[in-house]
Amino acid sequence: MPSQWKESFSLNHEKIDAQHKELFRLANFIEGIDDRSITKLELASLFKEFFDYMKEHFSLEEAYMESIEYPLIEQHKVLHQDIIDSMSKVLKEKKSIEQLQQSLKETSHKWLVDHILNNDLKIEKWRKGNLISSEDMLSIQ
Ligand SMILES: [Fe+2]
Repeated sequence: MPSQWKESFSLNHEKIDAQHKELFRLANFIEGIDDRSITKLELASLFKEFFDYMKEHFSLEEAYMESIEYPLIEQHKVLHQDIIDSMSKVLKEKKSIEQLQQSLKETSHKWLVDHILNNDLKIEKWRKGNLISSEDMLSIQ
């Protein structure tokens, strides 16, 4: 699992790239949290910050997909909604500090980093004129 943003992850969109870099930075920060040095309140506010940042990022990305008439926009929006839903579920549940930390780590890596690498990069691949293969279409989820 790459933990640093690389030039090959670029969507050639200044603001989206900047936000992806920030999301990688946040994911790394979350990964490095030491269990004993963070309070539950700090962890909850970090989770909320991450959540708000992702929502803002998703709207920008969706507006961009619309502007280039990306054909998989509807499927991609569903993926964004799934991430939002699972995060708001965690925020609503009363979780222990360990569970909260675990969910935050899982979300930041499994969902976010995988999402950027597997699905966001398809947007750029399409924009550059490469056809999306049927295999890509099937693996969108
Ligand atoms: Fe996305």
